[in-house]
Amino acid sequence: MVIFSESINKTKMIGKKFASLLTKGDVLLLEGELGVGKTVFIKGILEGFNFPPNEVISPSFTLIREYHLKDFPIYHIDLYRIRVKEELINLGYEDYFYNPQGITLIEWGDRVEDILNIYIKVELSFVNERKRRISIITKGYSYEKISLLDSLVI
Ligand SMILES: Nc1ncnc2c1ncn2[C@@H]1O[C@H](COP(=O)(O)OP(=O)(O)O)[C@@H](O)[C@H]1O
Ligand SMILES: [Mg+2]
Repeated sequence: MVIFSESINKTKMIGKKFASLLTKGDVLLLEGELGVGKTVFIKGILEGFNFPPNEVISPSFTLIREYHLKDFPIYHIDLYRIRVKEELINLGYEDYFYNPQGITLIEWGDRVEDILNIYIKVELSFVNERKRRISIITKGYSYEKISLLDSLVI
């Protein structure tokens, strides 16, 4: 699915609507260049779960942040500083990325895409200064989940 966003607020709104389709155990890979809107999209997702979006900060130095929601945690991972996936393999990343008790959102997901089997990929790209192209695809999900995600109406 491809959606275009002409503003920061629209990107947030798409993230917010998208949140309603997410369930525990989902892993999202956010991909795209620096400043394209990955964190903005994640703020929208958190807003969709009634978490204050101004408390959502990219954990580019700490690698991971955990947001405690009422029913389950959301893990926000930022792999900007991870250049080689061997670093993550050494950290025992797999258990971290797949958390059946929560939802995991990974900025710079391209760093780990080829070692994960099940994920939703949200790829953002620049159209111009304010406009973004947002593509959403899945890998390894059941037909039911795919059609649910396809039902996203903006
Ligand atoms: N349509 C848009 N969607 C998202 N962000 C936008 C848009 N237009 C301009 N921006 C700006 O782009 C920047 C995106 O920043 P951020 O989400 O931190 O990027 P990333 O996490 O991908 O590095 C913000 O400064 C935001 O105001
Ligand atoms: Mg970011």
